[in-house]
Amino acid sequence: MNQTDTPYQILGEDGIRRLTSAFYDLMDELPEVAELRRMHARDLEPMKEKLADYLTGWMGGPPLYAQKYGTVCMTTPHEPYAIGPRERDQWLLCMDKALERIDASEELVDMLKVPLFRIADAIRNREAPGAASENPNIIASH
Ligand code: HEM
Repeated sequence: MNQTDTPYQILGEDGIRRLTSAFYDLMDELPEVAELRRMHARDLEPMKEKLADYLTGWMGGPPLYAQKYGTVCMTTPHEPYAIGPRERDQWLLCMDKALERIDASEELVDMLKVPLFRIADAIRNREAPGAASENPNIIASH
């Protein structure tokens, strides 16, 4: 791995597809992400492909999602869902465990940590009840 490699170069298209496959398998498996699972359609297979297409561009590869769907805006498709810090953290938990499951290197995990938190938090569209008292340092430390 070179210092300048993008996550796309490190994982390749195959690695990204293994990642999103593990991600949605974990969404099905982990009892602690039940709320997140309930928001999704029964069949997660089409989502494995959509998320892989999206992440390919996001990680520095060809913009497959934009080519297929004409946008990279991720807030609009999430508008119908109530996404607070709990749902965001469940999404991030699946992603952490998916990276682990595909044996991602520590360097890659470190490289993705902050950008993944930022994009998941950007998709969040509400505060949890009582979230006004949330310590801002918790977010800053991610
Ligand atoms: C923050 C927590 C998140 C929640 C709770 C969430 C939830 C959802 C749900 C319920 C859907 C619809 C799935 C279905 O139709 O079965 C969806 C679609 C999608 N999500 Fe998320 N999501 C989150 C974060 C993200 C992030 C961070 C990304 C990208 C890095 C992402 C990428 C996508 C994509 C590409 C789609 C498909 C959109 C389309 O219909 O073309 N999501 N998400």
